[in-house]
Amino acid sequence: MNITDIYKTMEYSPAPESPDLAFEWLKERKAKFGLFINGKWCKAKSGKVFVTYNPATGEKLASISAAGKSDVDLAVSSAKKAFPGWKSLSGHERARYLYALARQLQKHARLFAVLETLDNGKTIRETRDIDIPLVIRHFYHHAGWAQVMESEFPEHTAIGPVGQIIPWNFPLLMLSWKVAPALAAGNTVVLKPAEFTSLTALLFAEICEQIGLPPGVFNIVTGTGETGAMLVKHPDLKKIAFTGSTEVGRIIREATAKTDKKLTLELGGKSPFIVFEDADLDSAIEGVVDAIWFNQGQVCCAGSRLLVQESVAKKVIERLKKRMVKLRVGDPLDKSMDMGAIIAPVQKERISNLVKQGKKEGAEVWQWQGKLPHNTKIKSKSGGGCYFPPTFLTNVTPSSTVAQTEIFGPVLVSMTFRTPDEAVMLANNTSYGLAASVWSENINQALHVAPKLKCGVVWINCTNQFDASVGFGGYRESGYGREGGQEGMFAYLKIKETGISKKELRIAVPKIKPTTKESLSLDRTAKLYIGGKQTRPDSGYSLKVVNADGTLAGEIGHGNRKDIRNAVEAAHKASGWQNSTPHLRAQIIYFLAENLEARAEEFQKRIMNLTGVSKKHAGLEVETAVRRIFSYAALADKHEGLIHQPPMRGLALALNEPIGVLGLVCPDEVPLLSMLSMMLPAIAMGNSVVLVPSRPFALIATDFYQVLETSDVPPGVVNIVSGDSEELGSVLAKHDDVAGVWVSGTDEECSNAKYLSSGNMKIVWTNDGKKLDWFDNRQSEGRIWMRRASQVKNVWIPYGE
Ligand code: NAI
Ligand code: MG
Repeated sequence: MNITDIYKTMEYSPAPESPDLAFEWLKERKAKFGLFINGKWCKAKSGKVFVTYNPATGEKLASISAAGKSDVDLAVSSAKKAFPGWKSLSGHERARYLYALARQLQKHARLFAVLETLDNGKTIRETRDIDIPLVIRHFYHHAGWAQVMESEFPEHTAIGPVGQIIPWNFPLLMLSWKVAPALAAGNTVVLKPAEFTSLTALLFAEICEQIGLPPGVFNIVTGTGETGAMLVKHPDLKKIAFTGSTEVGRIIREATAKTDKKLTLELGGKSPFIVFEDADLDSAIEGVVDAIWFNQGQVCCAGSRLLVQESVAKKVIERLKKRMVKLRVGDPLDKSMDMGAIIAPVQKERISNLVKQGKKEGAEVWQWQGKLPHNTKIKSKSGGGCYFPPTFLTNVTPSSTVAQTEIFGPVLVSMTFRTPDEAVMLANNTSYGLAASVWSENINQALHVAPKLKCGVVWINCTNQFDASVGFGGYRESGYGREGGQEGMFAYLKIKETGISKKELRIAVPKIKPTTKESLSLDRTAKLYIGGKQTRPDSGYSLKVVNADGTLAGEIGHGNRKDIRNAVEAAHKASGWQNSTPHLRAQIIYFLAENLEARAEEFQKRIMNLTGVSKKHAGLEVETAVRRIFSYAALADKHEGLIHQPPMRGLALALNEPIGVLGLVCPDEVPLLSMLSMMLPAIAMGNSVVLVPSRPFALIATDFYQVLETSDVPPGVVNIVSGDSEELGSVLAKHDDVAGVWVSGTDEECSNAKYLSSGNMKIVWTNDGKKLDWFDNRQSEGRIWMRRASQVKNVWIPYGE
């Protein structure tokens, strides 16, 4: 071929990165790897091994130990032993270790990049320019958090030994997202890499050895999901952090429900990529390429649903098809490839089946027509190289399988919309809520849409941007908890012990004295409070409420599942509350305090009669309640977000958003104060609530209706359903239109709530069956509760041309 020919065809020549370095590394270790436990390499006692392959060729790369129960036990006990020492180091000392890790990663960046490409099949362009630099950035950033931990998180401390389970799509990057904050905060770690991609984690362990990380601080147990499940069940791990499929996330939620383990889940997604007619279409097309063909589409936040405004749909689809032709798919080690190999045949099959299903349901399939490399010379178990062409499905309906199911491959589906409202509706029409991309040259429009999208990350005129300073994580079935930034640190910290005791939490309803007349007429029955109205319970039944001295105090409505359903509906109708200004919410909450104070004596008497406490104590409870309401009026307009400056020309706005409709199950102790301590942070943040008051002291809640009414709290913002706490709590935990539940109750109630919440992966807070001191501001008031009542959305906004 002469030069003129080359110019004519513009053919690329191969530009391979040499894998020699990585193969040498493998050879030096005889391509056999043990577990890394307590600073030492050891063979698995289970005696089991598994093989890791190169997805680009199907070649076997190494055999790796599969940790069994006794191996996991050993790793956990090492992490447990190392914990007190690691935690009690100064922040500065831990910072030095993290900094050393960052430096070593930087020194070995090339080896890491090549090894990652070999083991995973992703392109060298991505491992070299995206994965590994982000990993390094993560360790630098978290060396910083370790350094300033005492001053930035004075009320917090490390949780303990934690178990971390990561997926195969970004092996070392997911390791860094989990390990860096955990170690910075003073936790010790047992990590389980994904079975397809353990090699870079093992290389990382060698780096830990090189820098002299104390033994047991970081341990690796390689293996399959079985090994992961052993971590999840291990009683000595205080937290599980998981990234992977929603299916497994759900199993983990249920498996940890009966324990006090903390849990963060980063799960799947079906993220929208929204193109408005006024977008810079050329940039948007390049954006789509990065959104769905980055990492072969095996990205939890992949922009897999293209939503285009009707007026430009035809143009966008045509241009995108043209652009697709130019994509380069092939040897991941070739520096000029856009796409490499799919992780494994099983994943390829899953993708291929979903595309077939889409076709069956009426989609038009457009596929890249180039030649996929197949290494026929290598006959291996995995059947040679594993590739799938870039694929684009049009004529897709919003409810079809391919529009709803996470495909986790290079497959884009497209739909159209007419108005911004319709775009938002389509975008949110999924059970997931991880990320979204919004393309418009009109910044007002983009910023108008961003808060309406139910997801943890919004990229405006960009996509798949990540940084260690910017939290990442989902809404809804995409999980909870954030990784990165300040919020990511909170996920690895707990509040310092504040004298919480484990005691009997529910008070037995006192028996009515036989002498008490049962003649209280029906109109003494307090009703439920739903949508700003007092309503009769669906059952028509009531429950007796008895004073401490055994006399009948009155009756309360016996709420049931149907009442909860109505209350949830009313709470959704009050969604205007979350869009109201914090200033307005603050005023209304001040007014609540004023109106409670005006009736202080009445409440004091009620508390004395029902609970039997002294006049002084009841007076103190009311007084503290008024003060607490004031505190949340104060905080309502002060729990603001942050502005991050990630390494791009742009900003990321970390917005504190309400969670939505929250179900609150209140305790029996100090019934007025505890109820308000749960209700106020929730509504101050803009959530609306369905509240289940203490069963024996529910009359305090029903007395409160009038205070709500006179304080201009809009109808539906606070709904109160009295009845059996355990039963109603379970209904709330199961309800698919409730976004979060808070339960302060018995062990049983708490584990029920966690278990039943797995349906829609709601955010759960419980007291873990422990008694809180509701008079103590440190545990029962303030920012910790505002954080519980909110979730962070990060909105990325690039600037410049
Ligand atoms: P997976 O969720 O099964 O695997 C993720 C990690 O969890 C791996 O380390 C695995 O060994 C471990 N694991 C599996 N079962 C476990 C259990 N019962 N207890 C504890 N740990 C367990 O994902 P998989 O099978 O690799 O991929 C299946 C689908 O999941 C993909 O097609 C994709 O849709 C989705 N996925 C989503 C990811 C995300 O980042 N959102 C990452 C990986 C997969
Ligand atoms: Mg592999």
